[in-house]
Amino acid sequence: MLAGKHILVGVCGSIANYKAAELIRLFVKAGAEVKVIMTQDATTFITPLTLATLSKNPVLVEFVADKNGTWNNHVELGLWADVMIIAPCSANTLAKFANGLCDNLLTATYLSARCNVFFAPAMDLDMWQHPSTKRNLSSIQSFGNILIKPESGELASGLHGEGRLAEPQTIFEEISNYFKLSSDFANLNVLITAGPTYEAIDPVRFIGNHSSGKMGYAIAEEFANRGAIVTLISGPSSLSCTSKISITMVTTADEMFNETIRRSDNAEIIIMSAAVADYTPVTKSDLKIKKKDDRFAIEMKKTKDILLEVGQRKKSNQFVVGFALETNNALENARKKLIEKNCDMVVLNTLEDSGAGFTSKNDLEKNLATNKITILSKEGKVFEFPLKNKNEVAKDIVDRIKSER
Ligand code: CTP
Repeated sequence: MLAGKHILVGVCGSIANYKAAELIRLFVKAGAEVKVIMTQDATTFITPLTLATLSKNPVLVEFVADKNGTWNNHVELGLWADVMIIAPCSANTLAKFANGLCDNLLTATYLSARCNVFFAPAMDLDMWQHPSTKRNLSSIQSFGNILIKPESGELASGLHGEGRLAEPQTIFEEISNYFKLSSDFANLNVLITAGPTYEAIDPVRFIGNHSSGKMGYAIAEEFANRGAIVTLISGPSSLSCTSKISITMVTTADEMFNETIRRSDNAEIIIMSAAVADYTPVTKSDLKIKKKDDRFAIEMKKTKDILLEVGQRKKSNQFVVGFALETNNALENARKKLIEKNCDMVVLNTLEDSGAGFTSKNDLEKNLATNKITILSKEGKVFEFPLKNKNEVAKDIVDRIKSER
């Protein structure tokens, strides 16, 4: 899987640097082209000469390469890489990544990189447990970077606990697996709706719902990581997505309908995870509605059902996934939706399960978005999953689509 791949290895100062040498050797043996960036501190633990010899490329440490003003271009390096792996990643560099600092070649390249970034931390157990490290960790994971967890055992300090750099073989397998998965949906067009819709009442008020969009965005990232060409139609959301995804922002159910249907013929996989308003005000006042009577009623009309339309137009090469958010008779209602909307699969979440469904803004900021889903297949199979982080739930959904398609 690694033959010809461009792997950029970042090495921070750590006693575990000897493992970086072994990791680089494994990548090169597997046929990858490897470039190494070291922080200044890393060079006190292992020499650039060692890593240059193993990687078969000069090791880069400084922005300026020599006294003649030749410089190491962090933007070019970031674009060159198919994947970037920071191993070992120190607490200091982790903090810099989390806050967008770029005071050395490694951190500047990280900021410029468009590829996926893996990071394998190594530090003493108290540093690893520190609330600031935990916060930094969840920040960089929320940017889409992938953690390769440290292991437990004896640490350089003599203490025992979590913080040891993962073994080179483990990191190597994670990266190989990433490349294997990244061809799963190669060049397939995937269309996803996400988030809420807002239906205007007047210029300052609307009817909306609590959807954050997180589930749909996580599915979009997962598909993009696995080689698909992803189009995301999103209702209002504070989330952002990587540049690999083509995103169109909409506000109303009607706009989401138009943008989705316009693109649906082209898509091989269609996933409707948006929480679309079922009703919209019949009229929208151009002026702010003034407070008058004790009671106030808004006349509403049904919106167009996007999933129903997509299901009715479905072609033989298309796989359509609906979502169902239920509060009661969950399985029965979800099955009904699957049949009525001509879906191939329905992802059910029920508010009867705590931690399932919508994510609060607070939990979103802390990267604590969770969901508990049940997947129903067209053939009547039911797959139940435990409560998980929404990024992991996205993996389960995409894996299931791969099996059912
Ligand atoms: N959906 C849609 N367009 C709508 C309403 C819903 O595409 N106007 C899609 C959702 O994105 C989801 C599925 O239909 O994939 C089910 O949505 P849900 O709100 O659970 O069900 P509804 O069909 O709206 O029915 P009800 O609200 O009565 O449960």
